[in-house]
Amino acid sequence: MTRRNGYMISDLTGVESLEADTIKGLSSNPKYLFSKYFYDDIGSTIFQEISKMPEYYLTRKELEIFSQQNEVITDCLLSGNQHFDLIELGSGDGSKTKILLKSILDRNISFKFIPVDISAKANQELDILLGNELPSLNLEPLTGDFFNLSEYGTEYRNSNKVIMFLGSNIGNFTLDETDLFLTKLSEFCRKGDKVLIGFDLKKSPEIIMNAYDDPHGITKRFNLNYLARLNREIGTDFNLSMFEHHTAYNPLSGYVRSYLVSNRDQIIEIGTSGEKISFSRWEPVLMELSRKFDLATIERLAFNHGFKVIKHFTDNEGWFADSLWIRK
Ligand code: SAH
Ligand code: AVI
Repeated sequence: MTRRNGYMISDLTGVESLEADTIKGLSSNPKYLFSKYFYDDIGSTIFQEISKMPEYYLTRKELEIFSQQNEVITDCLLSGNQHFDLIELGSGDGSKTKILLKSILDRNISFKFIPVDISAKANQELDILLGNELPSLNLEPLTGDFFNLSEYGTEYRNSNKVIMFLGSNIGNFTLDETDLFLTKLSEFCRKGDKVLIGFDLKKSPEIIMNAYDDPHGITKRFNLNYLARLNREIGTDFNLSMFEHHTAYNPLSGYVRSYLVSNRDQIIEIGTSGEKISFSRWEPVLMELSRKFDLATIERLAFNHGFKVIKHFTDNEGWFADSLWIRK
């Protein structure tokens, strides 16, 4: 990673990796795409629309937790920390984090806030917003892939830190990615560092399905924008009307799977490489996983990766949990 204009720019988020990852995913059987590429400027804006939909309860529930339990969460995060770095992975528009930042500032604690996001637009907007609303905040946004935590260097590795991973971002990982991510996170932490992770919990399948297959068609637009992004950036010739959006929830595994299904036999060409990808009629592309958890699984994940659970903060209906762990 290199630093430009105060932002850390990861080489791994450029067009070259978008092309390589797209070819990798679309040449596989079954076909898939990497969910981190949803968030170009348009995708980030559509995600903000999703998070405001009444059906997308995740943001609302996590906001409820942060608003109603703000003081206790702040107490738990700060205990033992006189000076620390607060790192948020996949921070987006920071709407929930703002509440916490404000209450830490109110306590006159010295800390630096480091939001890490793959979307430069999300980071720039957050920078402006927090600059206006919390001018005394010591802020250092990083643009890059949060999977490359180890590249952030000793500057953060050796500090006292709290790492936040909100919004059930962790649900977008496969089982292997979850294990790898938590292993890297654990290696990055020192004894006593804390992590606060947002987990969407298992609940009525109907409620979950409404959140991911909404009647307004916003989630469908979010998915189709991925193909539009590929057309814009790597010269693919996807015709968006030739793909249908389909979502399925498996209450056993807890995984929501979102697909785009080709409604005809077709061949797509990747303009920048000349590669051709063929789709059979009704062949799906797995676009995204959104895993739902239970508390026992969360506790097992913490234990297996060298953390101890301090507390689960849940909303009044028990739909969402922000789980606070300490590195043993
Ligand atoms: N945490 C926020 C935003 C969730 S949307 C909330 O709870 O509302 C997911 C965010 O993670 C987006 O801003 C997206 O750009 C970012 N993101 C997704 N994959 C990423 C990756 N691999 N590295 C860094 N940021 C990523
Ligand atoms: C960012 N992530 C946790 C969202 C989710 O719920 O899986 C992304 C999303 N996809 C469709 N709707 C929201």
